[in-house]
Amino acid sequence: APVKVSKICCIGAGYVGGPTCAVIALKCPHIKVTIVDLNQARVDAWNSPDFALPIYEPGLEDVVRQARGRNLFFSTNVDDAIEEADLIFVSVNTPTKKSGVGAGFAADLNYVELATRRIAAVATSSKIVVEKSTVPCRTAESMRTILEANSKPNCRFDILSNPEFLAEGTAITDLFGPDRVLIGSLQTPEGLDACQSLKDIYGNWVPEERILTVGLWSSELSKLAANAMLAQRISSVNALSAICEATGANIDEVAHAIGYDSRIGPKFLKASVGFGGSCFQKDILNLVYLSESLHLPEVAAYWRQVVDMNEYQKRRFSKRVVDTLFNTITGKRIAVLGFAFKADTGDTRESAAITLIKDFQSEKALVNVYDPQVEHEQIWADLQEASPLVPLDSIKKQVTLCKSALEACKNAEAVVIATEWKEFKEIDWEAVYAGMNKPAFVFDGRLLVDAEKLTKIGFKVTTIGRPS
Ligand code: NAD
Ligand code: UGA
Repeated sequence: APVKVSKICCIGAGYVGGPTCAVIALKCPHIKVTIVDLNQARVDAWNSPDFALPIYEPGLEDVVRQARGRNLFFSTNVDDAIEEADLIFVSVNTPTKKSGVGAGFAADLNYVELATRRIAAVATSSKIVVEKSTVPCRTAESMRTILEANSKPNCRFDILSNPEFLAEGTAITDLFGPDRVLIGSLQTPEGLDACQSLKDIYGNWVPEERILTVGLWSSELSKLAANAMLAQRISSVNALSAICEATGANIDEVAHAIGYDSRIGPKFLKASVGFGGSCFQKDILNLVYLSESLHLPEVAAYWRQVVDMNEYQKRRFSKRVVDTLFNTITGKRIAVLGFAFKADTGDTRESAAITLIKDFQSEKALVNVYDPQVEHEQIWADLQEASPLVPLDSIKKQVTLCKSALEACKNAEAVVIATEWKEFKEIDWEAVYAGMNKPAFVFDGRLLVDAEKLTKIGFKVTTIGRPS
């Protein structure tokens, strides 16, 4: 019969483990939820008395305030949390491998394996182990082999796949009302029982028809497939934006027109300077690697093109800035508004802003950067990582971090909008104009500002997906 879960452990207190399990704790006051991580600073931040949480996510603080200390705990004591739990989420990072076989494509499963080995080493009772991390198809099988080879007598491990579909910036609303929760299990009686145990947890707030139960491998693959298809929509619309710029068509009008087709749908068709975030590129490359390993080179090439198009879009945009500024930006001051990979997050992983700034640096421009959420230390770390051979001191001679959009735009030749923060729409553009060198250029990489209004003020406006 299905186990009634009373204690949950989540390994990994990151962007996924933290919000996901905080919401489970909030919605299931009868379950004790302990989120563990090896990173002491991260755990301290989750526990901080003034709720200075390690990630910025609208609504998250409220959830943590309600549940923390009641039935939600954050700790670095991984072993105790594993030992007492009936169900364990593995929500560790699975970055793209940087070296070895599959470098640049395959997912680095080292953290998943270490967490799995820890579970096997510590557990003295049966556990349901849930893959929350995004992993290649058939990872659950490796986890099972490791667990079974290292387990103590009378311990059984049932493995489930339960990929997470939340998007950053809307994590809490996504978790409160998910489009669907996906649970994959072996179709054996034990597997189906484990599946039911997890289903009962989500059943505390998610309507039953939104909880999909499928086979393990379908569940693992569905996560990669969903991200690949979402990213593909953006690359498709971005490819069309290049045609628009060359022909006089307007990408917003085109997206609106095609989105009206109920088979296509209106969401996720916003042209941009390129998608970022920790997952789209990583998961597509993972899918490419999987396809190649399965000797399906045509399939691999097909998905690969989604990432190639994204790289092209970023390069195309920075080239357009240089072209428009009379083919040189040497010594010119450029204000980059936004550094996060999308609005309403402080996350910068794979942000298009990093590529743009690097391109401007190599053209010897002076760059002012402002983002309302991202910590300055993070920006320096990202710029250093993007140019490992350039000493940070030299980067700091070219790049200045600013405290407001207005300050960033002062004495600049051009403003580049890299992130769709709402506050950029509401800047006092008259004041920005007054403070800039003339002609004053705006490059809108996010279809954010009212180009007509800015043109009336005097700006020369260039918008993605519209002719100059
Ligand atoms: P993250 O880097 O923010 O968090 C992972 C955490 O796991 C880190 O704090 C790390 O210290 C910890 N960790 C690693 N190994 C550990 C171990 N052995 N024991 C204890 N802690 C350990 O990563 P994330 O953004 O939360 O992503 C986690 C997974 O979820 C990835 O597979 C990712 O693809 C997937 N995912 C992410 C998102 C997203 O929006 N970020 C959405 C859906 C799925
Ligand atoms: C994405 C998916 O939306 C989630 O379902 C998934 O769980 C998650 O990846 C993951 O696996 O990590 P996320 O990366 O947080 O979520 O954010 P998105 O809203 O998907 O945006 C990704 C990037 O695409 C951003 O840079 C965004 O600005 C860009 N984007 C998005 C566009 O350029 N145009 C659009 O129409 C939508």
